[in-house]
Amino acid sequence: MSGKKRYLVTAALPYANGPLHIGHLAGAYLPADIYVRYLRLMSKDVVFVCGSDEHGAAITVRARKEGVTPREIVDKYHALIRDTFEKIGIAFDIYHRTSEQLHHETSQDFFRKLLENNQFSEEVTEQYYDEVAGQFLADRYIIGTCPVCANPDAYGDQCEKCGSSLSPTDLISPRSTLSGSAPVKRPTKHWFLRLDRHENWLREWINTGVADGHQLHNPADWKNHVLGQCNSWLDQGLHPRAMTRDLDWGVDVPQEIPDSAGKKLYVWLDAPIGYISATKQWAIDHGKKWEPYWKADDTALIHFIGKDNIVFHCLIFPAILKAHGDFILPVNVPANQFVNLEGRKISTSKNWAVWVHEYVADFPGQEDALRYNMIKKMPEQGDSEFTWKGFQETTNNELVNNLANFVNRVLVLTNNYYGGFVPAVDANHEFKSGWDIDKTGVYDEELHILHEKLEALGSEIERFNFREALRILMEISAAGNALLQFNEPWKMVKVDPEQVKVVINLGLQFVAALSVACQPFMPFTSKRLRGLINLNALDETRGELLFILNDLAEGNPVLPTGHAIGAAEHLFSRIPDEVIAAQIAKLEATDTAAANTTTTNTPAATMYAPLAPTITYDDFAKLDIRTGTILTAEKMEKSKKLLRLNVDLGFETRTILSGIAEHFTPEDVVGRQVVVLANLAPRVMMGVESQGMILMAENAEGKLSFVRPEEGWGNGFGVK
Ligand code: MF3
Ligand code: ZN
Repeated sequence: MSGKKRYLVTAALPYANGPLHIGHLAGAYLPADIYVRYLRLMSKDVVFVCGSDEHGAAITVRARKEGVTPREIVDKYHALIRDTFEKIGIAFDIYHRTSEQLHHETSQDFFRKLLENNQFSEEVTEQYYDEVAGQFLADRYIIGTCPVCANPDAYGDQCEKCGSSLSPTDLISPRSTLSGSAPVKRPTKHWFLRLDRHENWLREWINTGVADGHQLHNPADWKNHVLGQCNSWLDQGLHPRAMTRDLDWGVDVPQEIPDSAGKKLYVWLDAPIGYISATKQWAIDHGKKWEPYWKADDTALIHFIGKDNIVFHCLIFPAILKAHGDFILPVNVPANQFVNLEGRKISTSKNWAVWVHEYVADFPGQEDALRYNMIKKMPEQGDSEFTWKGFQETTNNELVNNLANFVNRVLVLTNNYYGGFVPAVDANHEFKSGWDIDKTGVYDEELHILHEKLEALGSEIERFNFREALRILMEISAAGNALLQFNEPWKMVKVDPEQVKVVINLGLQFVAALSVACQPFMPFTSKRLRGLINLNALDETRGELLFILNDLAEGNPVLPTGHAIGAAEHLFSRIPDEVIAAQIAKLEATDTAAANTTTTNTPAATMYAPLAPTITYDDFAKLDIRTGTILTAEKMEKSKKLLRLNVDLGFETRTILSGIAEHFTPEDVVGRQVVVLANLAPRVMMGVESQGMILMAENAEGKLSFVRPEEGWGNGFGVK
């Protein structure tokens, strides 16, 4: 552990311009949440801040698209995002927002201080202006051809295709995203942060951990891809960067500053300051001081982010903090890479995503299954991929078959053999170790191994290796299963009851340890698990992991002999095929990228109705489908849609009302052969009983076609 006295942990402020998807979770919020929950369980002083990023083009562009005000956008998505975080168990100490007065004041004070410290140059430059929309065009308001890769739709601040960071004047044949017109250049004044003056110390600090002669971190603790991105930026040289914009939504440049009218702070100046505003609000709410968390050398500041935020958190924000003068620098920025979804990049604009608020609605009580899967797929060193099939397999194999199964078996056996009480053990009695079938276990040694595993798990979390930490957690559960499998208490209970007591007691210690150690990863499961063994939900202020580590280190069990547990229950349930099929269908049905490519040769997923959930052959066999011929057809009075048909099924003639009147005239259909669902329960419509259903094919535009057997086929024969 860093050995610091207190921790301030931040997770990137999400733009309040859309819902959260699984990539957000795995990128920044789950790692931050695991880390913080672990620190709390280790009795550390930690504050975990986040909030909505409510300024910048991300918001105003979205507002324009939805035809509403920026205020309406941020109110809507702030509420949705905050609620989603709560439902998926991300345990911020505060979830703030950058539209708050406190934040506006805090960032304006920052701006004043930077100005006072001579950190800006004021420059009048020629910027692109949209004469139709009457607005300057910064960042995402302007697109054009990327000078690096020739992508025709690069943004004014970045090319999403090749990743180059750009400025609007770099673009070839620029055009306005507001009006589509070609912009003109107009002079405008802005405040440029002299990043060039910070280049040298930033390079030293990033690569050696030393700033102002102090060793602040060990660069070996930082991820390679983070260092790599920083250095490739530094290698290109840092240049003055505009910290203001001509916009009408954002934090005002303080009014007393000359020429500030109509100017707003650049969103990447105000947003990270949002971490500070959030900490201030938390301090106000809890009667605490915020300054130590941002200014004391014995505080560890850690930013959890996705890789697209690296330069802002590792170079620009540190430069801003240093330029201000009073603030500490982050000890680490453990950025993650991206999660792909079913072979494609997750995209909010193309609606190719698994939305977290939809997941919690579709899978009530299974929040931890998503958490578990996303931790397993955390893109710690490279991009990763989520698939629904993989989600199903992981959940069923690891959470159901391993964890839930182990817990259930131990509790059932305890209830069956010992009336639900933790049995007393003979500590010398030998059994087969769950860690290794070739090893003989004795109680104390096995507790000792458990202790080692828990320590290893903790040190992986401390080093931001969350996937590895999760693997160790599941190793404990797997060892618990093996303990039962190798020793077969259900057979041994008659032969060697003393051995069974040791095995079950040890199994219960594993369960109790898991109820604590799983909490950073799966907080809902921790709570349920503790309920099952009659322990209170973890009090995060008490450092309970530290307690059990101490207990185990001294050779004391976690659950004392004689402790009464509750009834067994399954912690997780299997995810059936049809649930997965439905999620895949939903993903494909809402895939607007595919919908927009109908002009190309590739068939688009949205041309097809989503596949219905899988049925068994028995389900299908219930349908009795027959060939028939339409004998007569007439329009139904007062109905635009229905034709009344008489259909010859060979063995009898049926009256069938068919909703095809908008597509076919009675003359069109008389004499046609059709296929009929013949055992559909009769239904009265507009006073007439319909005795079956004509089966029709329907295409993407809603056009109908009859489905018929080959010419000359008889009536009344089955279709299977
Ligand atoms: N809103 C930004 C994004 O989603 C992240 C802002 S992080 C902060 O990419 F540091 F600026 F707050
Ligand atoms: Zn490019």
